[in-house]
Amino acid sequence: MSNVDYSIRGRIAVIAFQAPPVNSLGFALRDGLVSALERASADAAVDGIVLIGSNGTFSAGADIREFGGAAVRQGPTLWTLNSLLDSMPKPVVAAIEGVALGGGLELAMSCHHRVALATARVGLPEVKLGLLPGAGGTQRLPRLIGIENALNVMLSGEPLSVGMFAKSPLFDAVVETDLLGAAVKVAETSAAALKTGQALPRARDQRIREPDLEALMGFARNTVKTAFKEYPAPLAIIDAVQFGAKNGFDAGQAEEGRLFKQLMDGTVSASLRHIFFAERAASRIADLPADTKPRNVQQVAVIGAGTMGSGISINFLNAGIGVRLLELNKEALDRGVVRIREVFEGQVKKGKLDVAKLEARMALLKPVLAYEDIGDADLVIEAVFEEMSVKEQVFSKLDAVMKPGAILATNTSTLDVDHIAAITQRPQDVIGLHFFSPANIMKLLEVVRGAKTAPDVLATAMTLAKKIKKTAVVSGVCDGFIGNRMVHQYVAQGMAMVDEGASPEQVDKAIEKFGFAMGPFRMGDLAGNDIGWHIRKRQYASGSHVKRQVVADRLCEMGRFGQKTGSGWYDYKKGDRNAYPSPVVAGVIDEARKAAGITPRKIEPAEIVDRLVYALVNEGARILEEKIAQRASDIDLVYLTGYGFPIWRGGPMRYADSQSLYEVARRMRAFGAQPGGDAEFWTPAPLLARLAAEGGSFTGGAA
Ligand code: 3HC
Ligand code: NAI
Repeated sequence: MSNVDYSIRGRIAVIAFQAPPVNSLGFALRDGLVSALERASADAAVDGIVLIGSNGTFSAGADIREFGGAAVRQGPTLWTLNSLLDSMPKPVVAAIEGVALGGGLELAMSCHHRVALATARVGLPEVKLGLLPGAGGTQRLPRLIGIENALNVMLSGEPLSVGMFAKSPLFDAVVETDLLGAAVKVAETSAAALKTGQALPRARDQRIREPDLEALMGFARNTVKTAFKEYPAPLAIIDAVQFGAKNGFDAGQAEEGRLFKQLMDGTVSASLRHIFFAERAASRIADLPADTKPRNVQQVAVIGAGTMGSGISINFLNAGIGVRLLELNKEALDRGVVRIREVFEGQVKKGKLDVAKLEARMALLKPVLAYEDIGDADLVIEAVFEEMSVKEQVFSKLDAVMKPGAILATNTSTLDVDHIAAITQRPQDVIGLHFFSPANIMKLLEVVRGAKTAPDVLATAMTLAKKIKKTAVVSGVCDGFIGNRMVHQYVAQGMAMVDEGASPEQVDKAIEKFGFAMGPFRMGDLAGNDIGWHIRKRQYASGSHVKRQVVADRLCEMGRFGQKTGSGWYDYKKGDRNAYPSPVVAGVIDEARKAAGITPRKIEPAEIVDRLVYALVNEGARILEEKIAQRASDIDLVYLTGYGFPIWRGGPMRYADSQSLYEVARRMRAFGAQPGGDAEFWTPAPLLARLAAEGGSFTGGAA
């Protein structure tokens, strides 16, 4: 809902507008603003106009929800609004508090004057959505703050403090208080100047002064070509700026419009817009009452000071929350404390942290050896060995010592959270908090909701995730939760292709070229191949019908666990993280193929990519159908923030949509039907088959 209010102060019209929560410039608000401006233009009692947000903010820009649909072009458009401002016969002042971002700042730059509160932030974040500022921003900003500064603002997309531009023509005044009063004054002064014959100042009329335009643009172009290889928007920004600087404002604006449309229609922007909404949707939990009050968490305890326990602790120390770190013995505890200090020291060396902050963070850490010392913590996170019997011991101790109402969390990556909860007398207080390694760096946090987890425990986990700057995604309980359950199919498919004829490096190269940070074999070598081996051995022993991974098992039997043992799917050299193809591994693969009677065939990179990604998609579809994930965009977030899926492709589910689910299902069936193909593996999950038949999609995004 939007609202545009028109009032008069002396001889100045005040147009106060709002479209909560962020005053995005959707159709209704644009329409209201055009009417109010036309009214003020015609109002004989009015000499000047102030545009101000009436809810503490100016505007976060175009309404992103309209993008990709018809509404974005429903008149009056932002372009109509800004050209109306250009032709206003009376001075218009933008009064900015809160934020003026994207189209919001472009609207302000189309006004004759701008006044801002010192706390306000401005920016052109379109690049983060795969777009360029498309309502005159690429033309007006260089004319107000110079080309180099403008490029920095547009290419970073960051919201910036107005203080940075206080002395540029971007602002007539930056004030501490009484924004409206200051804006009215600027309007009055400008109206008086107009009466004496002075022209109204317009950004479009400013001359661009850049002595060596070609050199500057050449430099900018080279920089973004390497930094943003897969993203077309940064280059388009440079092109639009350069075109306008050479050919004048109107030609520049036309070129900007052409490029904006091209980017908007492209897949990269569609993916980035999908991610924008995915990030916000992930915190909404359908059946969690809106008034659920999170529990208060001021003191955290972490059990186990190994790889994960120390990383997890760092997150809380960074957020100023005290951590008690508990271990089995003093040696392990000391090792954990040293590991934590080393991470902070590394940040000091890089200039990211000062020594005082390092000490302040370390002072929040209390190493302990007795459970009695953690009893009053509000949240305890267990990160001990991945053995159910060990988890059982830890949780029965926690049940005995933790104060009532404390949240008991497990960082398990594979074990049954409901089983762990049932060890205690308070299953409602138990939850999974699945951090990813390294836990102080990786953004993803899978919040695993047990069958009995209380609503306020879930709400607390989501609130806390924000505090420690994690992207939280809720998962139901199943083997591997969302991320690892899917990755299991992906890795299995990688191994199947090695059985059929590909080498590990061919598989890795193909998917890395697609954009994954790391292929399945390099990933295995980094994480440790022994983890999967232990799980497989348990599965073989239980008699479950899992396919024997002959090559992978053989490599583990040979002690080739990965980087940590100096060899795995690849060979490694001391002090060198590069993976070198291994003749030993090639021999093991050869032998296994011979034993199975397989004649190896060449597998094309396109088939490798499709099989790996569709393996993820098919399991993702099952996870959606079983309601383990709430929505397809949650699955995408898991893969983007936890598994190095290429950002510009929007995540596996969004990527499948972009290919059309019909095509995905068709190719999957074709993989099942080819000689030696695994027809069962490649049967589309029921949800995928249904959506493919209906012409539907997982994410609601256009194909
Ligand atoms: N359009 C539509 N909805 C928007 C929006 C926008 N431009 N900006 C924010 N929202 C919505 C969010 O989706 C969210 O909705 P929800 O509550 O239903 O999930 C709600 O507003 C609040 O947003 P946040 O959760 O992000 O709130 P914060 O207070 O953390 O942040 C903000 C506020 C800094 C304004 C942040 O939302 C933001 O950066 N927004 C995007 C700004 C942007 O990219 N603008 C450029 C748009 S493109 C453009 O203008 C094109 C033009 O050049 C032609
Ligand atoms: P680790 O072996 O590095 O650390 C485990 C630590 O727990 C050791 O320091 C050990 O001394 C301590 N410990 C064992 N029993 C204990 C007990 N009863 N009381 C107190 N301390 C005890 O293991 P890591 O990798 O940190 O894993 C811990 C948990 O995190 C496991 O459940 C694992 O599945 C999970 N996890 C691991 C990830 C990884 O990449 N390493 C990623 C996500 C989750």
